[in-house]
Amino acid sequence: MSRLVSFDDVREKARRKMPRFAFDFIDGGAGTETGLARNRTAFRERILEPRALINVDGELSTSTRFLGREWAAPFGIAPIGLAGLAWPGIDAFLARAAEGAGVPYCASTPATTQLETLRQVAPTNSWFQLYVGSSQDIVDDLIERAKNAGYDTLVVTADVPRPGKRRRDIRNGFALPLRITPKLVWDLACHPQWSMAVLKAGLPRFANLERYAKPGASTTSLASLMAKQSSGRLDWDLLAKIRKKWPGKLILKGILSPEDALMAVDHDVDAVVVSNHGGRQLDGAPATLHSLERVRQAVGSQFPLIVDGGIRSGEDVLKALQAGADFVLMGRPFLFSVAALGEAGASEALAMLQTELTNAMAQTGLRDVVDISR
Ligand code: FNR
Repeated sequence: MSRLVSFDDVREKARRKMPRFAFDFIDGGAGTETGLARNRTAFRERILEPRALINVDGELSTSTRFLGREWAAPFGIAPIGLAGLAWPGIDAFLARAAEGAGVPYCASTPATTQLETLRQVAPTNSWFQLYVGSSQDIVDDLIERAKNAGYDTLVVTADVPRPGKRRRDIRNGFALPLRITPKLVWDLACHPQWSMAVLKAGLPRFANLERYAKPGASTTSLASLMAKQSSGRLDWDLLAKIRKKWPGKLILKGILSPEDALMAVDHDVDAVVVSNHGGRQLDGAPATLHSLERVRQAVGSQFPLIVDGGIRSGEDVLKALQAGADFVLMGRPFLFSVAALGEAGASEALAMLQTELTNAMAQTGLRDVVDISR
């Protein structure tokens, strides 16, 4: 029996289990966190209209055709850097669960497990997310590695021209390498289960990037290498070059304005993720659900759109689809599910979403998720 009742519950459980600096790194957003809250408010305030007397007995279908193939449901796992701070081994747990559930898992550039390993764990359902960092050689090599590992979908993240200013991280003194302060030691001592697990597995590492550091490089120089993975140099010319280099599907993540979405269409991008990086970059950014509606209007009904940010239930998934998305991604809920419940939390989270989505479909008279009218 699943122990998962809601993502609010697992967030609370994870909060108790994890050291504060690690929980805050995942949970927090930029600035006053008004933007972070705005994502959630938009979903809370959107209303679904129930429909009655439609026969919705039996199996309801959530399977979705997206980017040229079939998925079991219209949701997937967003790319998360440094996910190992939630629980050791989490990247592979999430990849395995997504492969089993028939939904996409997106491996991140700053993942704590190598992209090659994650592709092996999810050989048909994984995407690779690319940060265009300051070194073009590293960018080129990451693209080559993703190709060689067998990835068919590249997600280029466009919304990190600078690292976001996250006040919780600054207040907690969270930086890599971890600075051993009395506050940190106390934080770790108060969360022994997490601390023992991380001690046993070793602190999370930037597994994709280590090879670009000089042999024997200190954690400090690795951290500065990581800092250079967000750069402001990505522009439409560079995106066009990446498009030429990448033979598979290309997704552009972190678009909020209709003008940018139209530029993406012109640049032969296969899909756009309407995203504000989970409220972690620009506090004043619009709620993604609201941007989604404007972007959908601009690009027309056919262009593939994904949305993420603040989606926390099957009902939210349905709301996103009604507002114009073809597909949705979620980040924090999966991290907290594993932090709270261990490896099984990954599959339980996906299963709960599936059940909630079909329940919401039944309440709104939908037999098939593809019949959603926008
Ligand atoms: C992220 N996100 C992110 N995005 C990306 O393109 N590459 C990355 O490495 C990361 N890393 C990352 C770490 C953490 C801790 C979080 C919470 C988020 C953003 C992520 O892919 C996604 O856009 C948001 O998480 C979606 O919002 P929700 O579902 O977390 O509200």
